[in-house]
Amino acid sequence: MKHTILVVGATGMLGEPVARQLQQDGYAVRVLTRNPEKARMKLGDAFDLVKGDVENPASLEKALDGCFGVHINLMGGPKAEDFDRVEHRGTANVARASAELGVPHLTYLSGAAVFEENAWFPSIKAKLQAEAAIRESGVPYSIFCATHFMESLPLYIRGQRASVIGKQPHRLHWLAADDYARMVSKAFRLPEAANKRFFILGPEAWTMREALEKYCSTVRPDVKVSSTPIWLLSLIGKVSFNTELQFIAGLMRFFDKAGEGGDPAEANELLGTPTTTLEQWCEAQRKRLHPSR
Ligand SMILES: NC(=O)c1ccc[n+]([C@@H]2O[C@H](COP(=O)([O-])OP(=O)(O)OC[C@H]3O[C@@H](n4cnc5c(N)ncnc54)[C@H](OP(=O)(O)O)[C@@H]3O)[C@@H](O)[C@H]2O)c1
Repeated sequence: MKHTILVVGATGMLGEPVARQLQQDGYAVRVLTRNPEKARMKLGDAFDLVKGDVENPASLEKALDGCFGVHINLMGGPKAEDFDRVEHRGTANVARASAELGVPHLTYLSGAAVFEENAWFPSIKAKLQAEAAIRESGVPYSIFCATHFMESLPLYIRGQRASVIGKQPHRLHWLAADDYARMVSKAFRLPEAANKRFFILGPEAWTMREALEKYCSTVRPDVKVSSTPIWLLSLIGKVSFNTELQFIAGLMRFFDKAGEGGDPAEANELLGTPTTTLEQWCEAQRKRLHPSR
């Protein structure tokens, strides 16, 4: 009989590749979602969908029952209290329920800038607290402190303009979600991956501008890459009472300062080094989106 792994947040940009990889590697994948109809539209019939909410511990028991593992991919925000509610307390609820039901392994997507010195930023604070709750639960865990994903590059495009918001001076080891998904899946098969905090970085470092220019020249040649000052985005967000824009301005201010940290050597050795280059990923996107070009 196949082992079942519950994926919390499989409808998300970074949860779906993990769910698909787990399935490809022979696991039965169960998906926890607040909205099964919406999830079915996005994911099709490939997975067993269970309605649940990490804020409702009772809904987690049925979803976790009999599971060999659970993967957590959660996004809170945009307000600080939402990060705390969903990412910190929601993760703590999943970890606690997993401990009670004897789930043998939990994996969690954190970030490569998740350090105490960055806890002034609400989403980092929530992730630090989520990690602490996982450790306290006693469930064997693998925490994935992943850097910026290549999949987030299209999010910087509005219409025919891609914006580098702020100076964004750091070189980042952009990571392909499929490489990360293979590493998460492998962690479930490897006893040595338990109780580890892994740093997951892609093979090459590019600034945000360099990465966006590469993406646009390959996939969206109609798009021009330009710069937007953070103060301007923040001002627009404030005068229009747009909390999402205000959050993005704050996030970009954070990225401007924080960059990425951590040594990927242990993750690479145990789980396999990410190999997809930005060029390969962009080319794959071009083929997928514009097969005739
Ligand atoms: N983008 C990057 O480069 C990057 C790098 C490192 C780390 N990260 C982190 O990766 C995480 C996931 O990002 P993402 O882009 O995959 O997010 P996303 O696309 O917004 O997906 C978020 C997921 O969270 C689930 N969710 C939210 N609230 C929930 C609740 N109360 N109960 C159950 N499920 C809930 C949603 O499921 P339903 O709507 O189906 O319920 C959805 O599948 C974030 O914490 C982000 O900070 C991102």
